[in-house]
Parts: sequence; C-alpha cells; structure tokens
Amino acid sequence: MPETTRNPLPPTDVSLLGLGAMGSALAATLLASGRSVTVWNRTAGRAEGLAAQGARTAGSVPEAVAASPVVVACLLDLPSVQETLAPAADELRGRTLVNLTTTTPDEARTLASWAAGHGIVHLDGAVMAVPAMIASREGRILYSGSRDAYDALLPTLDVWSTSEYHGEDAGRASLVDLAMLSGMYQMFAGFFHGAAMVASAGMTASDFAARQAPFLAAMTHGLADYAKVVDGGDYTVPGQQSLDFSDLSHIVRTSEEQGVDPAPIAAVQALISRQIAAGHGGEGFPRIYESLRATASRASTEGDAA
Ligand SMILES: NC(=O)c1ccc[n+]([C@@H]2O[C@H](COP(=O)([O-])OP(=O)(O)OC[C@H]3O[C@@H](n4cnc5c(N)ncnc54)[C@H](OP(=O)(O)O)[C@@H]3O)[C@@H](O)[C@H]2O)c1
Repeated sequence: MPETTRNPLPPTDVSLLGLGAMGSALAATLLASGRSVTVWNRTAGRAEGLAAQGARTAGSVPEAVAASPVVVACLLDLPSVQETLAPAADELRGRTLVNLTTTTPDEARTLASWAAGHGIVHLDGAVMAVPAMIASREGRILYSGSRDAYDALLPTLDVWSTSEYHGEDAGRASLVDLAMLSGMYQMFAGFFHGAAMVASAGMTASDFAARQAPFLAAMTHGLADYAKVVDGGDYTVPGQQSLDFSDLSHIVRTSEEQGVDPAPIAAVQALISRQIAAGHGGEGFPRIYESLRATASRASTEGDAA
C-alpha cells in the first residue's frame, strides 16, 4: 500500500461537506444530538473546532462520503456542489445526498438528475433560518425530492429545525423558499424607502422603524383575507378596497417631491395601473396578483379583459 493512502475512516452516521457558518451549525447540532459525524471542508483549518467536539475529519471528499450512508452538502452554490461531488460520484452510489446549499429550483432539478444518473438518492433542502436558529423549532427547513429519504431521515432532520416536506419535485422546496424571501426582501425595500422619505424631514431610521414594525405586523393579518380572494379568483367580492381607491400616485409624487427615489413604490403603482388600464379599477386590490402570475395564465386573463 502506498504510504500516502489512509486507512478508511470508521463509519459515522452522517458526513457533512462544507463548514461555513451554516454547515458548521448543522454539524455541531448533529454532534450535540449524539450522532457521529464526519466532516470535510475545502479549507481544512475550519474543521478544527468541530473535531474538538468529536467530529471525524476527512482529508478528501471521497473519503468523507465513504464514511456515512447520509451525505449532507452545505456549500456556496450549485457549481461548488458539482465541483465537490464530481470526484466522489462512485462513492456516493447507493447513499443518500441531502443538499442544503441554496439553489434555484431548476438547479435543484439538475442536481437531482445527476444524482439519479449515478444511483444516488437525493433530497433537496432549503434552509429558512440563520445559523443561530439551527437547533431551534424557530428555524424551518423545506425539503423536496425522495419521500422515502425524507421519511427515513426525519428524526435526524428534526434535530436542525422544523422540517417540512414539499413533494417529489426536487425544485419545489427551493421555489417556496425563494418566494418567501422575495416577499421578505420587498418588505425590507419598502421599509428602506419609507425611511428615506422621512429622513428628508430629519427623522432617523431608528425612529421610523419603531413606528413601522408594529404597523407592518398589524397589516400582515390581512394576508389571509387577500389569499382567500386570490384563491377564489373573484376580485369583485364586496368589502374590498378597490384598485381605483388604491391608486398610489400621491405616494410616488411625495417621494419625488422629497428628492427620494420612488422605485419600490413606483413598481407597485405600475402593477395597479396595469390592472386599471385593463378595465379592472372597480375590483379589489388583490387583483394586482393577475399582473404578476405566470405568463401563460396572465396572457389569457388580460386578453379576456381587453
Ligand atoms: N448563513 C445563512 O444565514 C444561510 C441561511 C440559509 C441558507 N444558507 C445557505 O447555506 C449555504 C452555505 O452558507 P454559509 O452561510 O455556510 O456560507 P459560508 O459561510 O460563506 O460558507 C461557504 C462554504 O462553501 C465552501 N465553498 C465555497 N466555494 C466552494 C467550492 N468551489 N468548492 C468547495 N467548497 C466551497 C466554503 O469553503 P471554504 O471554507 O474553503 O471557503 C464554505 O465551507 C449557502 O448556499 C447559503 O445560501 C445560508
């Protein structure tokens, strides 16, 4: 045997590839739950803290993969996952790969096809938590892909966060995750726009946040009612604020008058204007959903209205 060949690592329950902020939190939680863990990271020094907590460290990806029936990847993006897993495709055959690296839905499906082609069971996960929320019920990880893998691994997955399964389509967990983040970032952008408006009159962002946070929290109670209208598909249901009444051009104008870029609120106004122009001004505000939904169905709805 050549001197450089290491003996195989002893078997562990889970192997984890990627020890960034999130991967380290996932590995530490597995160790704290009593599971045995093998870890690998491109920059080897990052494994030291986990080794001190009982993790076994692998010198290569194939070595890490060969140590456990379950391999978790928590890397940067799809290319980093592909680059990392390619040399270990043979060792991965017959094992379960749980990818917790953020990808788009199509990228998750690409990884699922690659896994299927190599006889690897694949479960994709979208982490809706920051590292500090791992090991708490507050965090949530959405999964899609192999149902059998999800069911078998649930006791392990549950040590990280609240687990939620979204179906066999590997891209679905990512889609739900990114849709949730879309709502969140647009809310934040709305907050920053409001903060810039009041800053033009000398109010600090902190003063504004103290008022905006409880207001937004109260407004979110309306989401369920909006959702009922969208799901019902009838925007004429009585008792709704109409699109004509929802015209936001006075907010856009005020923003401009204060020298503040109106981009976020102007984007909302554009959605409203599109529906009013299509003849739906008397219908409820949730109708702007029709300006957004998938192109094929929108074309038919706006075509009907024209
Ligand atoms: N942190 C969060 O709050 C959070 C929340 C939800 C989802 N996520 C997702 O979780 C994943 C990891 O996030 P993180 O916060 O742990 O990121 P991070 O701290 O930046 O760590 C990135 C990890 O990826 C590795 N890596 C990057 N490029 C690589 C390559 N080409 N080949 C091999 N390894 C590579 C890094 O290795 P080196 O140490 O060698 O650089 C490191 O282990 C991301 O997809 C992220 O979107 C993170």
